[in-house]
Amino acid sequence: MGTARVVFDRWSGRYADRIAGVRSSAVRDLFAAASRPDMISLSGGMPEVSQVPSVSVAAAAHDAVVHEGAAALQYGSSEGRLQIRSLVAELMAEIGVRVSPADVVITAGAQQALDLLGKAFLDPGDVIITEGPTYVGALQAFSAYEPDIRCIPMDDDGMRVDLLEAELKRVGPQGAKFIYTIPNFQNPAGVTLSPDRRRRLLELAREYDIPVVEDDPYGRLRFEGGHMKPLRSLDDEVIYLGTFSKIFAPGLRLGWVTAPKPILAKLLLVKQAADLCGSNFAQVTAERYFLGTRWRKVLQNLTHTYAERRDAMLAALDEHFPDEARWTRPDGGFFVWVELPPYVDCASLLAEAVEHGVTFVPGDGFYPDGRGRNCMRLAFCYAEPAAITEGIRRLAEVVEDRLELYRAFIAAGAIEAPQEGAA
Ligand SMILES: Cc1ncc(COP(=O)(O)O)c(C=O)c1O
Repeated sequence: MGTARVVFDRWSGRYADRIAGVRSSAVRDLFAAASRPDMISLSGGMPEVSQVPSVSVAAAAHDAVVHEGAAALQYGSSEGRLQIRSLVAELMAEIGVRVSPADVVITAGAQQALDLLGKAFLDPGDVIITEGPTYVGALQAFSAYEPDIRCIPMDDDGMRVDLLEAELKRVGPQGAKFIYTIPNFQNPAGVTLSPDRRRRLLELAREYDIPVVEDDPYGRLRFEGGHMKPLRSLDDEVIYLGTFSKIFAPGLRLGWVTAPKPILAKLLLVKQAADLCGSNFAQVTAERYFLGTRWRKVLQNLTHTYAERRDAMLAALDEHFPDEARWTRPDGGFFVWVELPPYVDCASLLAEAVEHGVTFVPGDGFYPDGRGRNCMRLAFCYAEPAAITEGIRRLAEVVEDRLELYRAFIAAGAIEAPQEGAA
């Protein structure tokens, strides 16, 4: 048995009020449990970096030092090296977005861009609009600036733009600081915003004069279905966040933001205060890694691997999960979102799941207000297909046990049966 130690924080009265609203990420907290050797992790959204050839990375890092050592080891410009910003412009052109290197700022992952957006845009009480559920790291980044976060539900076609319109009517023109969306293989829901809804979302954003933030880490990890145009390709006022984490490796901490010039200037200003400049060493290494075409093959293989794992997860869910559960069927990315009957509390289910040797992330972490308790995010990106199948089998046992208990309560009239069709 481990020993729990309560640590009193004698500085607790000194912190800024805004810190009270920032919750620790359940995903991070789970890392410790997930490292047990018998544990099957369906929690962390970790890319399969073992497939990134270490020889290619070693060669890139070696070249960075040998050929550009002085620059790689020195401070650099806050917006990032011209070479990597040119690389980003090329990558963006491949997905239908025309930007020049001057429109790009390199960040420490897309995560830093989220924080910079919060810092540049948000005063306490400002309204922002996000999907519900949404990326836990965005909630963490934004909540430090104390906004009023309004979540718009999704269905299989992504954000419900009819409900977005209703919310925009409530807040009025310029009534929100921005709309934050993850249109491709959303984290955590796995769903993708349909082309019609992309257009409608942009129309509404224009009509209400509210900037759109498009966070797109997974867009290139598509398993099937046609290419989806990024929002940014349809409207050059969209603030677009990209990252090297899923097309290369998160360990380099490299992402980028493109935005209209005045916004980019503000982001650069707050970035200078945050870090002076990003890592030149990481930037030169990435520039070298992306020379030639090998990275494309690596990415293709990675995408294939994720597709196999997605298939394994969906097949296991179909086989083992009870009828009362519903889940999404993503065409790409890393995640499946499972919804259980409203009386199930997935946070308490997690302890039992850990005992059974499997982890997931409880859904309430993906909402700012405690919703999502009956939901869970399952990541298929990291475990091997056989482990995913076994993990889902273990999890199904835990879920089934809990549902059986509730069925008995319902039969005894102790709790009400959920209404037919209720989510
Ligand atoms: C939707 C979303 N945005 C941003 C990030 C942060 O990515 P990065 O590694 O680029 O900071 C993630 C990481 O999982 C994510 O899922």
